[in-house]
Amino acid sequence: MSDTPGLPAPPPPGASALPAGTYDGDTVLVTGAGTGLGKAIAVEFARLGASIVVASRNPEHLAAGRRAIEALGADVEVVECDIRDADAVAAAFDAAEERFGLPRVLVNNAAANFPSPAEDLSPNAWRTVVDITLNGTFLVSREFARRHLAAGSTASIVNVGASYAWTGGPGFAHSAAAKAGVKNMVETLAVEWGPYGIQVNGLVPGLFPHEDMTDDIRGSLDLTHEKDPLQPAMRVGERQELGWAATFLASPYARFISGHTLVVDGANWQRRTLTNPPVVTVRDQLGRGAFPKE
Ligand code: HXC
Repeated sequence: MSDTPGLPAPPPPGASALPAGTYDGDTVLVTGAGTGLGKAIAVEFARLGASIVVASRNPEHLAAGRRAIEALGADVEVVECDIRDADAVAAAFDAAEERFGLPRVLVNNAAANFPSPAEDLSPNAWRTVVDITLNGTFLVSREFARRHLAAGSTASIVNVGASYAWTGGPGFAHSAAAKAGVKNMVETLAVEWGPYGIQVNGLVPGLFPHEDMTDDIRGSLDLTHEKDPLQPAMRVGERQELGWAATFLASPYARFISGHTLVVDGANWQRRTLTNPPVVTVRDQLGRGAFPKE
């Protein structure tokens, strides 16, 4: 194991690069904010003064999101919403507006994912992941933008992406294709909506282990053991680092940044080795055995 120091540890949770009160008076709607990285992002906005709307289709996740924001003493509303359903998305914004007024910031964090060899994906499994991750992100963005266009107000969107949008994602064909669509949509919508004052960016997390990872995702991570030496940073991310990036991108200090997708992964996605490691098929990595012969 290497004894190189890697990238320094960040300041502790609770610290912020932005002035206190940067989001005073603002409302931020975060999809999937009841768990994991969505919750971490929502928390950083709340620390800076934002009121938070947690949107999720899972009542337990809504309750967890509410608890996390209330613990900071910030205002929070929760709305049950399946982002694949345009009517449910509109109803979620109605509820948000009724409580706080139209959110100024939207974080499209909700996504669907599980590892699978591509050939094992059922048509419905493929459709479900693309429908939540890509179509859902579009439907929420569209509803948000239409309301801001109608009101003549300025706004900011942050779409959570994945680095396999650029590289492809063996074992995640569905999610990688959907996230590539999300990244592309950032670039299109930033141009279409910039003239109306709506900024659109992407934010890509690297490895940020957290307690809400699904068993599937955790299982594929657990295929390798110690995580820190596997990263060029010699450490994994600490979730506040992702929250800080999100709060910066939607802040007044980033107003000329639009159409950009920011990768927060300590350069892990740029990794190449001098000598190629042996190829291991996705089936073997997931312990699936051979594809059945006819
Ligand atoms: C194979 C699966 C499956 C699995 C679901 N399906 N889970 N197929 N392996 N583990 C199939 C089902 O069999 C079904 O197809 C179809 O998908 C729809 O399943 P439903 O359960 O009806 O759908 P739904 O409840 O709407 O969604 C299921 C889900 C969702 C897609 C798994 O619950 C989900 O995404 N949960 C994880 C959320 C999450 O962790 N998101 C963050 C991802 S992180 P059939 O043919 O049977 O009808 C990320 C960044 C990259 O994306 C990380 C890289 C490591």
